[in-house]
Amino acid sequence: MPGLSVVILAAGKGKRMCSDLPKVLHPLAGRPLLSHVVDVALGLHARQTLVVYGHGGESLLERMQGLTVSWVEQSEQLGTGHAVAQAMPQVPDDDTVLVLYGDVPLVNPDTLKRLVALTGPDRLALVSVALNNPLGYGRMLRDADGRVTGVVEEKDATPAQAAVREVNTGIMAAPAAALRQWLSALGNENAQGEYYLTDVVAMAVDDGFSIQTVNPTSPEEVVGINDRVQLAELERRVQRRQAEELMLAGVTLADPARVDIRGEVSAGKDVFIDVNVVLEGRIRLGDGVAIGPNNYLKNTEVASGTQILPNCVIEDSFIGPASRLGPFSRLRPEVHLVERVHIGNFVELKKSRVDAGSKINHLSYVGDTQVGSLVNVGAGTITCNYDGANKHKTVIGDRAFIGSDTQLIAPVTVGEGATIGAGSTITRDVPPGELTLSRSPQTTVTGWKRPEKKK
Ligand code: UD1
Ligand code: CA
Repeated sequence: MPGLSVVILAAGKGKRMCSDLPKVLHPLAGRPLLSHVVDVALGLHARQTLVVYGHGGESLLERMQGLTVSWVEQSEQLGTGHAVAQAMPQVPDDDTVLVLYGDVPLVNPDTLKRLVALTGPDRLALVSVALNNPLGYGRMLRDADGRVTGVVEEKDATPAQAAVREVNTGIMAAPAAALRQWLSALGNENAQGEYYLTDVVAMAVDDGFSIQTVNPTSPEEVVGINDRVQLAELERRVQRRQAEELMLAGVTLADPARVDIRGEVSAGKDVFIDVNVVLEGRIRLGDGVAIGPNNYLKNTEVASGTQILPNCVIEDSFIGPASRLGPFSRLRPEVHLVERVHIGNFVELKKSRVDAGSKINHLSYVGDTQVGSLVNVGAGTITCNYDGANKHKTVIGDRAFIGSDTQLIAPVTVGEGATIGAGSTITRDVPPGELTLSRSPQTTVTGWKRPEKKK
């Protein structure tokens, strides 16, 4: 929006979090609280978005780098009014200023657009909401005609004021020139010794401004996070909403309360997700994918018809169609399973490609490897890819059969259709089509007696 400057307050320490991490970096649905607010702000296409930071500044800038926002330092946290004042030198007089809070993560863009639309040269607008439990919030004060006369913080409220259920959400829009003046006139004679942004409301009333209030579309969009109990409550609400979105898009969830989505999930038709599944980052699930209980997937695509059995950990990988994984498989980054691949229990894969129809069903480590199609890798196979200094590649040709308990000392190539006898340590390339094995000859010592215990 032309002429709109958004100011996001994120400098507070968040004492009530009892944390070394700045409050606004605590994650909600896998992303810092502040990211949620910044995303909404950027969606408004404002002329500029200014983030006021202070406490934990360095870690904040590091974690949030690359965002198209301007950073304004508030070196001492003297209150919300003082925080907004730090950003004002960058705001031209005829802009509208929209104030958002870094600890109010779920603000809705439509509410904000309605708010900004109500602001004018003699109008200040606030988002307020009536809560059954207004504890901790500033209360809206109104005169007998229902006109807003000010906002009082809970710690400064008389018992009668504290009984008011309509609260200030903190979200406010005001014309810049007037706001600048009010901010410069703020005092800090109050219970917290802070320069309260909320005091500008009474100043605006004195200057003949009309105070407009807007209700949020739903109360959760204005929930402020001050402690970890509130954070956990909001997390559950976000998770519930995401779960509902998935179900309405055609996914069956065994229990919507036991799936956590910490990122973005896109799913085809008739996907089934069992209990205790965590989906992180970017996840794509094709039609008919079934994910069993206790699975963790991060930045992974699972193509149609594939089954993930219980207890797998899968990261940065692609699992092609009609495949089967688990139980207890571990896919580390950069695994590409082409199609109809079976990966079984206690199999770890890393940076490897497995072509169509191949099977690695039991107790194996396969890393930096290219496995052809229709290959069978026997139980206990290990690609020895690391010599203590460097990583080396293993290549296994189509239709090869790797006997159980084989060590493939990389770099090494196994030819197409080769068979490796069980228990082999393979140190040189294996020719195609032949049986290769390395095995010490079996001997029997006839008449040998087990030692007996001394009397
Ligand atoms: C504030 C409002 C209160 C409202 C509530 C809604 C004031 C005085 N009170 O109270 O009316 O009901 O939000 O959630 O505004 N911050 C800074 N610099 C500072 C102080 C705070 O950047 O010097 C930031 C914090 O990081 C936070 C936000 O401002 O993101 C709000 O501060 P907080 O101390 O949490 O205010 P509340 O007591 O919740
Ligand atoms: Ca707060």
